[in-house]
Order: sequence, then structure tokens, then C-alpha cells
Amino acid sequence: MQRPLFLFTGACGLWLLVSCGSPKVSEHADHSPTPVKETLIMDQHSHARPLEAVITHLDLDLKVDMANRRIEGVAGYTVHAPEADSIVFDTDGLDIQAVNLADGTNAPFTQGEIGLLGRALTVRIPKGTEKVTIRYATGASARALQWLTPQQTADKKHPFLFTQGQAILTRTWIPIQDSPGIRITYSAKVRVPKELMAVMSATNPQQRSLDGTYSFEMKQAIPPYLIALAVGDLAFKPLGARTGVYAEPGMVDKAAWEFADMESMVSAAEELYGPYRWGRYDVIVLPPSFPFGGMENPMLTFATPTIIAGDRSLTALIAHELAHSWSGNLVTNATWDDFWLNEGFTVYFEKRICEKIYGKDYAEMLALLGRQDLDRTMADISQSAHPEDTRLKLHLAGRDPDDGMTDVAYEKGYSFLRLIESKVGREKFDTFLRNYFDAHAFQSMTTERFLVLLDEQLLMPNKVEMNTAAWVNGDGLPAEAIMPVSDRFAKVEAEIVRWKKGASADELSTKGWSTFEWLHFLRHLPSGLDLGKMSDLDDAFHFTATGNAEIAAAWFEVCINNDFRKPYASMDQFLTQVGRRKFLIPLYTALARTESGRQEALTIYKQARPNYHSVSVRTIDDLLGWEKVSSVSM
Ligand code: BES
Ligand code: ZN
Repeated sequence: MQRPLFLFTGACGLWLLVSCGSPKVSEHADHSPTPVKETLIMDQHSHARPLEAVITHLDLDLKVDMANRRIEGVAGYTVHAPEADSIVFDTDGLDIQAVNLADGTNAPFTQGEIGLLGRALTVRIPKGTEKVTIRYATGASARALQWLTPQQTADKKHPFLFTQGQAILTRTWIPIQDSPGIRITYSAKVRVPKELMAVMSATNPQQRSLDGTYSFEMKQAIPPYLIALAVGDLAFKPLGARTGVYAEPGMVDKAAWEFADMESMVSAAEELYGPYRWGRYDVIVLPPSFPFGGMENPMLTFATPTIIAGDRSLTALIAHELAHSWSGNLVTNATWDDFWLNEGFTVYFEKRICEKIYGKDYAEMLALLGRQDLDRTMADISQSAHPEDTRLKLHLAGRDPDDGMTDVAYEKGYSFLRLIESKVGREKFDTFLRNYFDAHAFQSMTTERFLVLLDEQLLMPNKVEMNTAAWVNGDGLPAEAIMPVSDRFAKVEAEIVRWKKGASADELSTKGWSTFEWLHFLRHLPSGLDLGKMSDLDDAFHFTATGNAEIAAAWFEVCINNDFRKPYASMDQFLTQVGRRKFLIPLYTALARTESGRQEALTIYKQARPNYHSVSVRTIDDLLGWEKVSSVSM
């Protein structure tokens, strides 16, 4: 349910301090062309009023009750509020039990109306207050949390819990000032059942503790959407001096093999854009319901098991999440309208890491697949209720920011940066970027401010003319976007032509094809393939039986589009186990194109829905019109 716009603007809006590490107060909104040290922008997706009262440190003392699916405990905050008589937190579905000041006295509090942004918690504080504590418990439907039964895990022995904060879900498990323009350090003590281990986006244990108590510390200031926790039967395996992997015991060796390049990815990234500033870089492989490919939680990337293909072919995703340690976690989008500053930069950076490690043709294949995703997304969005979502700078006020987070930010953002690179030359662009990450480390960035920096530091000195406004504020993809070129993909296309002309699938030259070539192949098959043609493909290449989730998902889509039903049992199983939204959306969309397909999709979804995390549920509910259907017939 969306609430009307006016609820989130005007008096209810807030002014945020960006690009300034400490919570000093600046005076006015600034979109002026001159760079200012302190820029104020409004975050429409938080109730907090950080200019009046802002948190700077969080200290959690939590108990994770796996049996009752509840987290409870105390959150202590260090507060900077020299003049304010109240401080506002974001909450969503939390049971707020008590609010106290440093001396133990109760602080009076009120809770606002429940809406798209959750619920404001306003605490009355005496002038000069520096500490506040809140005793609370999570609610039954805390959307950041996914509680899994043993059956939903790899080893099937123990329950599992993970959190997902981005974009505005941290407030469903911690009372917090939940804006990406606010940064805090945090420490935590977390108690879990003693047969389980807890890890966070912070310094982590590498072994189970005897009593199930774990302590964490994040010494760098991070935006609240990056606070994360996972609890399960976990094992750790080191990969390099500062890298390692966590996974369920039955998975950890496979994961370690798959991620063998991680340490060299960190070094490659550092050579490009400066030192890795977070200490360790570890990855945790989660159960398959994790709704994303990866999530860049600092010090500990959360990852889907669907990148464990057995051939190391999908590890560009690790390069991506690692790259966020600069673009996103170090320099952070000031609001969700600036999301492309996180993702577009990261896609660019990820390609550069991959180019260094795997070579240019690898990176170009990745780029071309990305461009294909973008073209498809652009076409879909321009037909949707929000065609303005094809702009880099978004306008998400009054909407769930998650709805605006599409391939546009990733791939149009990448394309923009790649064009700049080609105009100024790689060397100058790299110098600019390296300086950008240094100069704005641990700060937030607006699109407007970035454009000023770009102009002043890169375009003007090099006399480069570019219509940056068209890229950022214009719809669609500008015609000057560079089309990536891949010889290896040209060869794939030639084989498709041979097949179309009558060669049988097993006669095609596919030796040495990587996952990328197979994806290109599957995406470029002609339409209207009959049973014979589809069987020919499956008999020769065994797509239905593949253990590679990317290939499986692309194949199932081809099957749906050509009504080839043999793999449907495998597809049902895939859709029931895997909760990664990127795979679910195209498959359910393809199914729902016909009425009978939509019924089939609903039948599968009914089974699968309890396995999905709330962010995937929300998307697929919408896509299939679940609310309507479930209230009538299911
Ligand atoms: N930060 C994103 C995931 C995300 C996006 C969470 C929007 C919540 C809202 C992460 O870095 C990401 O981009 N993941 C991609 C990986 C891919 C581009 C390599 C994914 O999950 O598919
Ligand atoms: Zn990302």
C-alpha cells in the first residue's frame, strides 16, 4: 500500500547533512554549481531529523531467539544533539518497551502513524543528552529478517537467520536513524543458541564460542543499511591473509574452492582505487532463499549459493560486492534517489577488477550481457507507470525505494562512466576516481555534487564537452552510449546461425564456452522453437540438468517462451528453492504472459512463497497480483 505523497514531504521531510564526516550543522539546501564542504539534502525515506539530533554510535546487546523467531534486547546510542529537546528514530513493526537516559531515568516517547516508512519514534530528551537506550523486540513480520527452518538450509540440521537492511529495512530489526546519509560506528553483543554461530558486518569470530555469545565491532562509520547479522551452523575457511569464507559446514569447502581468487581481487581493487580500508574481507554463503546475488555488508559480503557453479565462472559477483567497499560503503549515495552512485560506480569498478584478473574479453562479455539486461529493463520501464525510472537521478519520494532499484542504476550508470572514461582517457579517469574515493571517504554524495566534481576536476580541465544532464536527468539511454564489443559473442552468434540453417545442436562448435557464452547463446535463440528444436538443444547441451543457476534460469525462460514443458518439474524445484529475485522476476513474468501460464505461476508461487524473503515476496506478489488472488481463491 502506498500512502499519499504529502505525508512524506513538507513538514515531515528532513534535512540531512552530507559530505561531512561529523555532525556539524550547515544552513541551507545546496544544489549550486560550486562545491561546498557541507551540503544539505533531504531524505524522503527517513523520519529522522539529523540536523537537530543525530546518532553517532550504536551499541547492541541482543538475544536471538531462534525458536520464537524474535530478537530482543537493548540498543544504546551515542547522540549528538546540542540544542534539541527530542530525537527521532525510524522503527517498523518493533515493540518498543522502554527508553532510558544515561542516568537510568525513563525518557518519554511517542510513536507516530504507521506508513510506508514504518513509524517515527520521538524521544523527549533534556538538552545536551549524549546517551539514550531503547529496550525493544522485533515483531512477527520484521521484513529484514528471514528465519529459516533446518529444511531450508544446505545441511538441513539447524535453523538459520539472516538480515537484509538495504534499502529501508534495518528499522524493522533495530530502532535507528535509517538514512544512507547518516553514519554510525557500532558494537554488538549477540547471544544465540550455543550450537550456532553469529556473524555481522563487523569484526567476526572464526570459531563457535562455548556459550553462544559473540562480540562485534565496526570501527568505521557506516550507513545503517549496512548493519547485518547472520546466525546459523557456520564454518570458516581462510582464503588469503585477509580473506575467507563462511558457510554451512557441508558447503564451506566448495565455497572456498569457488572463491579462490578473492585475495587477488582485493589486491587488484587496491591497485586501481587505493587501499582497502576495512581490515578483513570475508564472504558468507547463505541459504538459497537469499533474495540477492550479493549484499555488500562491510567486512562480510552476504552471498547467494547460486554463484557456486563448480567452475568459478560466476565470481564477478564477488568483484562487485568487493568494489562496494569503495563505491557505496566508503562514498555512499546520500539518498536512494542517488542509488546509481552506489551501483553504477560499482559495476564499472567490478569490470575493471575482472579485466585485471581475467582479461579484457571476459570484462567485455560481462559488459555486453549487462547492456542486454539494460535494453530489456529500459523497454519494460518505459511502458510502466513510472517511465521516469529510466533516469539515473531518481524521484522516489512517496514510494518504496526498492521499486526504483533497477538495472538502470547499474547499467546506465556503468555506461555513463564508461563513456566518460573513453572521452578523457583511462589514466585521467582513474586518477579522478582514486581521488574521489579518498576525498570523500566515509561521507555521502549526491548526484548534483558528483556532477560538479566531475565538471571541475575532469571535464573542464580536459576540455571535454559532454551533456551530463541528459545522462542524469534524461529518460532512456543516450545514443552516444558505447556498445561493448565481444568477438567471443560474435562466434556464438555464428553458431546460432548454423543451427538455424539446419545443423544439429551437437554439431555446433561450443568447445570451451564459458557461462557467459552460454547465456548469450540462450538469450539469442530464435523464437517459435518447436518440440524437436528444443529437444535437440537439451539433448546436446543438457541445460535442464545444469548445476549452473544462471544457465538454468536463462534456459527455463526459453522453455516457457516456447512452451517446452519437459523441464517444468526442474523449474518448479528451482523456483521453490531459490529466492534470488533476479531469477524469479523473469521466470514469473514469462509464465504470466498467458492466462494458463499465470495460473501455473500462481500454483508454483503458492508452494514457493513461504520460502522467499520478504523483498522477493513483495515483488512477486505485485507481479502476479497475489493479494487479489489469495483473498479470493487461494
Ligand atoms: N546492493 C546490491 C543489492 C541490493 C540492491 C539490495 C538494492 C537491496 C536493494 C548488491 O550490491 C547487488 O548489486 N547485487 C547484485 C549483484 C550483481 C550486480 C553482481 C545482485 O544481487 O544480483
Ligand atoms: Zn551492487
